[in-house]
Amino acid sequence: MTTLVPPGWSIDSFRDKPIAQDVHYEDAAALAEVTRELRTLPPLVTSWEVEKLRELLAEAEVGKRFVLQGGDCAETTSETRASFIVNKLKILLQMSLVLIHAGHKPVLRIARMAGQYAKPRSSPTETRDGVTLPSYFGDLVNRPEFTAEARRADPALLLRGYQHAALTLNFVRTLAVGGFADLHHPEVWDLSFFERADLPTELREQYQRTTDQLSEALRFMEALGESTVEQLTRVEFYTSHEGLNLHYESAKTHEVPRRKGWYDLTTHLPWIGERTRALTGAHVEFFRGVRNPIGIKLGPKVTPDEVVQLVRALNPWGEKGKIVLITRMGAARVAETLPKIVEAVGAAGLRVLWITDPMHGNTQTTASGIKTRDFDDILQEIETSFEVHERLGTVLGGVHFELTGEDVTECIGGGLNVADLDKKYVSLCDPRLNYRQALEMAFRIARRMKDSRRK
Ligand code: PEP
Ligand code: CO
Repeated sequence: MTTLVPPGWSIDSFRDKPIAQDVHYEDAAALAEVTRELRTLPPLVTSWEVEKLRELLAEAEVGKRFVLQGGDCAETTSETRASFIVNKLKILLQMSLVLIHAGHKPVLRIARMAGQYAKPRSSPTETRDGVTLPSYFGDLVNRPEFTAEARRADPALLLRGYQHAALTLNFVRTLAVGGFADLHHPEVWDLSFFERADLPTELREQYQRTTDQLSEALRFMEALGESTVEQLTRVEFYTSHEGLNLHYESAKTHEVPRRKGWYDLTTHLPWIGERTRALTGAHVEFFRGVRNPIGIKLGPKVTPDEVVQLVRALNPWGEKGKIVLITRMGAARVAETLPKIVEAVGAAGLRVLWITDPMHGNTQTTASGIKTRDFDDILQEIETSFEVHERLGTVLGGVHFELTGEDVTECIGGGLNVADLDKKYVSLCDPRLNYRQALEMAFRIARRMKDSRRK
């Protein structure tokens, strides 16, 4: 390990490779101007936070921590509002408390926040009533309204996305050291604070029981002067987003004083999506040179050999805590596809963190054409993933959700049926678990974790 820059890599080396999901900007001069400005603005995260996260992920790899990653499919700048941010953090925090209680280990919270503004699309264009326009690629690129002007890729939105990420992160950091930091604070625990009419009594009681037990255990440990209390309860949130728009990512990737290598300072954990993970493509080229831990989404079509090559390319020095493999196979396929990959990675002697994303392999379209996901499929993929890893002697180190703290109606099951979907379907992209579904999901995972501990 010398310079920590892999051979042949430079900040621009991705530009010679095919860029999947590339965005065409008509005004090259405006794009250049924006990226120049972005480059001069302060970073959103720091290299020492990135280094810290790598250490924590290394512990999750060996089962000492559990990762909870979640947030919107697509963040929007119009939702850069206090209430949305608070509610998202709160559901992640509450889920993590349930998981800490069940798993008897610290939970590492990684939000899909402060930069999840760029979306890959299955089709570059969208047609409505005979009119064809570019698809909506997220608020970092264009706007959702179906007009030619709104759908034009606008470089100014790169800057706007950065600004909204900064606003979001500023509030997240403030909450993490203020209100949320003190787990004795009643609003962290108290469900009545939410006044959620839709929350079933059983769930409310279950949560109350869990939080009572947890607070009691905390008080007990504190009375004994346990140093682990601090560690267990520190409320930290790391950020993550799909590193899709390489204009944005590369403009904010820097060398930093007194460290070797380059850091992507837009987020702690960028991930490469299922549609952009080609070995010879620009995204893998770009991210193989950054020091951040890197997530890689793996769908059912990936081959074991491809996974091994991806891990080798993106972790040239075989470091711990560097690679997060986020498998999203679908409930129906996970039992068949996951073991081969896990075995190949093991046989190659590679060390990774395994996480399941039970959302993206379980998308279905209703008879009336609404994109949804079924709570039971989501849970099934998680449970099967636990089984596969247990059987193969590896560790399922975390879960990755599309969720929101709001009472939306986008996924079915956990209190909603197909007829409810049009009541409050807000997502501009994929369907998310709502507040109640997310909390219930945490309890179901908790049950599974307790079973594993007993075994
Ligand atoms: C996503 O996480 O929103 C996404 C597009 O996932 P994937 O790349 O796994 O399809
Ligand atoms: Co999505």
